[in-house]
Amino acid sequence: GSAVARTYPFRGLHQSGIVTPAQDRLHFAAFDVSDITRDELLELLADWTTAAERMTTGLGAGPYGAASGPYDAPPDDTGEALDLPPGGLTITFGFGPTLFDDRFGLAGRRPDALEELPHFPGDALEENRSGGDLCIQACSDDPQVAVHAIRNLSRIAFGRATLRWSQLGFGRTSSTTRAQTTPRNLFGFKDGTANLRAEDTTQVERHVWVNDGDGPAWMTGGSYLVARRIRMTIETWDRTSLREQERVIGRTKGVGAPLSGGEEFTPVDFSVTGRDDAPLIDPASHVSLAHPEHNGGATLLRRGYNFVDGNDQLGRLDAGLFFIAFQRDPRTQFVPIQLSLARNDAMNEYVRHVGSGVFAVPPGSRSGEPVGERLFA
Ligand code: HEM
Repeated sequence: GSAVARTYPFRGLHQSGIVTPAQDRLHFAAFDVSDITRDELLELLADWTTAAERMTTGLGAGPYGAASGPYDAPPDDTGEALDLPPGGLTITFGFGPTLFDDRFGLAGRRPDALEELPHFPGDALEENRSGGDLCIQACSDDPQVAVHAIRNLSRIAFGRATLRWSQLGFGRTSSTTRAQTTPRNLFGFKDGTANLRAEDTTQVERHVWVNDGDGPAWMTGGSYLVARRIRMTIETWDRTSLREQERVIGRTKGVGAPLSGGEEFTPVDFSVTGRDDAPLIDPASHVSLAHPEHNGGATLLRRGYNFVDGNDQLGRLDAGLFFIAFQRDPRTQFVPIQLSLARNDAMNEYVRHVGSGVFAVPPGSRSGEPVGERLFA
């Protein structure tokens, strides 16, 4: 079918929305669970699962639909996606560290890998853009479909969980399969060139999915999601020379080739030096500091989006990158990489981390099984 009529299966070994080819649009939401019981929490997950599975196939959130059903009750779907194909909609659920407390008898069940992220140098995190007991990542090629999914799941959660913060994103900033061309972020650079790809199954198995024996069995086949709302001061960036921009990234702006030479997908070579014997790729560049070679082999599946949320009072766009990364263990992947970036990245002059979240994304669910049910077993 056409690109917009595309659907991805909701059920499976893994949740969709991770190695799924990155769609164009994002609506990400974090929720706080209200004062409910453990059974009611599981019921919420069951209701969310049923509605999510329906919506990913293009159906309404509930069985009656937006324009039928009991006349004196609110419709069980809000209606704005009625005539729209799903556009490859995926809905991915996650659990934040704060879910694992005494409220739901889950205190002993938190995976060690799901700890709050440390405070990184330069962090300027806003409370109202960070954390959350639960998260939902909705991705679609149609922004209205992604928003419809989050809106209906929030509606279904009424009285059980409340929206804590949410983020819209456009223009994926990563490729997650080889068939996709590399998109660009708001610095104008190709983003996703050296990303993990769905086709690299050995690498994905090793760096993205939680393996048997990594931690509690209920997380086997799952992954950990780190989200960072990274504000980019693009006005400053736009007054910076092309030479400086390429030095900061470590790649060319045009084709995205490493400054050590070659084409976009030529491997970087940090040993190549210029006439002055200085390395062609600055050791303080983003690519150098983020590269697995300088992080003990650690790598990430990046799946972020650009955002522009209006402007601030100084007349600057509130713009940036909503960074999302999936990994097998944030303690040995995101945390050490970000520590190194936060300390030394030449890019820090142009970015500020203002929001943050870490979530355990449970494995996929079997037919009839609520997502994450094995946590409660
Ligand atoms: C690579 C941009 C934040 C991890 C890149 C590249 C660009 C880029 C242009 C080169 C192309 C590519 O391989 O994708 C940005 C921007 C950021 C940002 C604009 C913030 C606004 C982060 C953060 C992390 C990260 C927070 C992780 C903590 C990586 C990694 C690579 C990379 C692992 C691949 C390095 C390699 O193997 O060559 N980024 N990035 N980035 N970035 Fe970022």
